[in-house]
Amino acid sequence: MINGKFKGKDILSLDQFTPNDFKILFPLTKKMKNIGFNARPSKLLDGNIVTLIFYEPSSRTFGSFSAAVKQLGGQTVEIQNPQVFSSVAKGECLSDTIRVFEAYCDAIVIRHYETGSAKKAADYASSVPVINAGDGTGEHPTQALLDLYTIHEKFDRLDNLVGVVGGDILNGRTVHSLIRGLCRFKKNTLFLLSPKQLRLPRADFLYFRDKGINLIEIQSEEEIPKIADFWYWTRVQKERFKNLKDYKTVKNRFIVTKKLLEDYGNKEMILMHPLPRIGEIEQEVDSDPRAVYLKSQIRNGMYVRMALLALILGKV
Ligand code: NCD
Repeated sequence: MINGKFKGKDILSLDQFTPNDFKILFPLTKKMKNIGFNARPSKLLDGNIVTLIFYEPSSRTFGSFSAAVKQLGGQTVEIQNPQVFSSVAKGECLSDTIRVFEAYCDAIVIRHYETGSAKKAADYASSVPVINAGDGTGEHPTQALLDLYTIHEKFDRLDNLVGVVGGDILNGRTVHSLIRGLCRFKKNTLFLLSPKQLRLPRADFLYFRDKGINLIEIQSEEEIPKIADFWYWTRVQKERFKNLKDYKTVKNRFIVTKKLLEDYGNKEMILMHPLPRIGEIEQEVDSDPRAVYLKSQIRNGMYVRMALLALILGKV
């Protein structure tokens, strides 16, 4: 639990955030926006080094963390694909790799293909905070923070919302974190639209429902409620499938087209996607003013990461 005390905290799961923590993070994120617009970097992280170690491909999370550190005048040590380019290729274990980089820096941001690996890294790195930038099919907390910020920016609240989540709800870690975040607030309802094979595991479904969120599983577009505040579309996570045949039977089962938005959307909603998209939102939809995935959602990712880094490094 963060409970207002961000300094030195590992950020591993959205479960750590209380409603009050969003009240601290979001206004600061808004301030970071101004720094982002200003061509000169702030000096807030002057003298700080943040290691970004990514065992899985990434462009925007990696890029936005890197830019976030630099916007605040800090520096980065960047390792992408350590399986190929570092001592990991020689067989080094995660604990050694983490302990080495811990010695060089003030915080570590890690993405890893194994669920639970960020927690392990946090246990190994006892002297610096660790941020989970995606652990297997587990969580992706900073993505959910930017998603929640984007929702909050539009509706000025995180309770009393109706959302539709489409795509891979079984494997999509961004969805797992988003649900955990929305569980923290009252009277939220999520319609989960996915093929049967890609539903939330039963145990998670019941766990989230116990926490107070109203989850409704649907299997066809016709069941989308027209009153939704947001749609959150996701990619079917190809890399999590054991065989390609299974992937092909479920990929792009649900595609957002202009027509779908016309038939089931409403004027006030927003359409989000964590990206990358692989055809599940048609490009013709991009110019719709409700489509925020290539617009504010992206920029908010950098601002929210700036705010989070400043908080956990004790600079604000
Ligand atoms: C997501 C991820 O890595 O989980 N990407 C991202 O960080 N924006 C979503 C995805 O890969 O589908």
